Amino acid sequence: MTLFLIGYMGSGKSTLGRRLAAQLGASFVDMDRAIEEQAGMSVSEIFAAQGEAEFRKMERQFLMQQGATETLHIVATGGGAPCQGDNMEVMNRVGRTAYLKMAPAQLLKRLGQAGREKRPLIRGMGDGELLEFITRNLALREPFYERAQLVIDCNGVPDAYIVEHIQRWLTW
Ligand code: S3P
Repeated sequence: MTLFLIGYMGSGKSTLGRRLAAQLGASFVDMDRAIEEQAGMSVSEIFAAQGEAEFRKMERQFLMQQGATETLHIVATGGGAPCQGDNMEVMNRVGRTAYLKMAPAQLLKRLGQAGREKRPLIRGMGDGELLEFITRNLALREPFYERAQLVIDCNGVPDAYIVEHIQRWLTW
């Protein structure tokens, strides 16, 4: 079974995904890293050289390659992937989906300078500008994210609890 972790940039999809995989003996893949490996460039380089639309095609291609698996396979998706075309439906069909829901103020706190630099959509933004961007962008994206089968409120919740919550939901 494939589990897709969904959420905004900085919501902890990769960190939690790795932790969950280690705890459950599952395999793990980070969608951005897989795309980077396949393209031989970083996400920022893909945006700069080929444009966002091309990157979105690569995300779609990656998702279409994910099939039903015998054992648990965890995918940390990119923050924008669920909001393109019917990607959300594809993920809901292929596997299970969990949305790591977090408020703009908390996302801002987690997206430090280094985190902003490697993400082309928010590179170079100061705190005020970024908070405004997240608030606006998240409002557009939430209708997609909310189609996940599990929505977890992660505001101020320790990782260990979130991992346990997902684990219980998966085995329920
Ligand atoms: C993006 C999120 C990033 C990465 C790219 C675009 C987005 O992934 O795919 O920079 O549109 O939200 P993370 O959510 O892992 O930061």
